[in-house]
Formats: sequence, C-alpha cells, structure tokens
Amino acid sequence: MTQVVHEIKEVREVLGQWRKEGLSVGLVPTMGYLHAGHKSLIDRAVKENDRVVVSLFVNPMQFGPTEDLNTYPRDLEADTKLCAASGAHVIFNPEPKEMYADGFCSFVDMTGPTAELCGKSRPIHFRGVCTVVNKLFNIVMPDKAYFGQKDAQQLAVIRRMVKDLNIPVEIVACPIVREADGLAKSSRNTYLNAEERQAALVLSRAVRLGQGLVEKGERDTHKVMEAMKACINAEPMAKIDYVEAVDFQSIQKVDAVENEVLFAMAVYIGKTRLIDNFIINIS
Ligand code: PAF
Repeated sequence: MTQVVHEIKEVREVLGQWRKEGLSVGLVPTMGYLHAGHKSLIDRAVKENDRVVVSLFVNPMQFGPTEDLNTYPRDLEADTKLCAASGAHVIFNPEPKEMYADGFCSFVDMTGPTAELCGKSRPIHFRGVCTVVNKLFNIVMPDKAYFGQKDAQQLAVIRRMVKDLNIPVEIVACPIVREADGLAKSSRNTYLNAEERQAALVLSRAVRLGQGLVEKGERDTHKVMEAMKACINAEPMAKIDYVEAVDFQSIQKVDAVENEVLFAMAVYIGKTRLIDNFIINIS
C-alpha cells in the first residue's frame, strides 16, 4: 500500500518511525504525471532502499512567467497506481503553500553549471530546482535520491549542489527511457498532436547521429553539433533552442570530445519545448 501524504509534518512522522527502525530511505523527486522514465527511477529506488518516498510537486518556483506551470499535466490517481505497482511506500504531494509559506524568501542559487544550456533560455529555472530539491532533501533526509539522465544539466547541478553544500545524500543517475520509436519519455510529450509527435522524432534521430559520429572517431564537438543541427533543421516543425557540447561536470562548452562530454539539445516542436541528450565518456 502506498500512503499519500500532503503535509511536511506527516512525512516527518513516517520518517521518524523508519529511522527508529534503522531503515534506509530512497527519494524520487518528481513533478508527477509519471511515465515509464519515472517508473524506472522508482523501481530502482525500491530495489536499493528499505523504504521509498516519491514526491509529486509541480514546483512553481522553477517555471518562468511565460512557461507551462498552469497547463503542466497532473493526475494523482494514475500516479498513485504507478507508485503502488512499483512498491513505493509514501507519496509526498504538497500544495504550493505547504512548501512556500507566506513570506518565503530563502533560495539556493548556483553560478557555473547553470549558466549554459537550459539556464540560458530558462534563467530562473535552476534556482527553483535547487531550492525545492534542497527542501525535499531536508524534509525527507534520504540516503539516496534518484534523478533521470534526460535532465542531464539538472543532474550535474544537483551533484554540484550536494558537493558544495555537504548534503549527506547519494545521487543516483538513471538512464533515459525512450518510446519504441526513440522519443525520450517526458510528461510534456502529451502536449504534442499526432503530426508534432512524428516531428519530435528528430530529437532522437539527432542523438543517434551525433553518437554514431563520435563512436566512429569524430573528436571535434563542433562537427558533431553541425551534423546534429542540420538533421534537426531538416524537420520543418522543429526550431532549435540550443544544441551544445559541454563538460558533463562543469557544464562549460568544450571543443574536443574528451573525458565526459554531454551533447545536449532543446528543440521546440510547435509550442512544445523538448530536450534530449547523450553522454560520451572517453577516459
Ligand atoms: O525533474 C523534475 O521533475 C524536477 O525538476 C524536480 C527535480 C522534481 C524538481 O522540481
């Protein structure tokens, strides 16, 4: 049975009991509308911890004023079923006022890894992510927390935050889960109509193309990016926000493929902004 709680004090009560029993705790932070990508995180958390908390919270602080906060899909009933099927123990589903009480004015902000990629087109996004993830870590105090590699910059940002602020949690990265035709799973895929859904395949095509070039020995990131951009631009419904190659730790641009390089993209398909990426590790 998965217990759904809405208040911080309820989470603390449950957690207090688990800690007394010496149980390990995994946290899977999400914004809900769970899909197979989230399920892979929850399944892994259930395998690796005695108890698992899944947070479902569409965090207003990480959405810009013109972004999709109000239309972001929500379905607590379906999410509860998915969590129960995976064996998660608690769903934490707070209201915004529970997380951000009147007068709220403390933030966790970051320079460096937030400056490029999504940080450029979504200037307040990572401040919102860092603040809410920090709050969730303080509320749940998990031993391990699970994040998808689809949001690769977010993963790098959270790893950096945990290191910089000495947060005692192990960050576990989980691979991208794709539809059978290659499209990376995302709650935002539900915004796409049939024609856009087809056009959105250009992202995973560009990923495969770039990956193939590097695997064949291309080490100039600009050549890889040019090929990926040409592939995306060939799709009339696609508009590139960015295609970049960055060091996966620092999220600073790199010219050569060496160490761990993240090739990341954000592409508009109609009004929907989708992201995808691949990581190459050459050591
Ligand atoms: O990746 C997400 O769904 C969100 O950014 C997160 C980590 C749950 C914070 O709101």
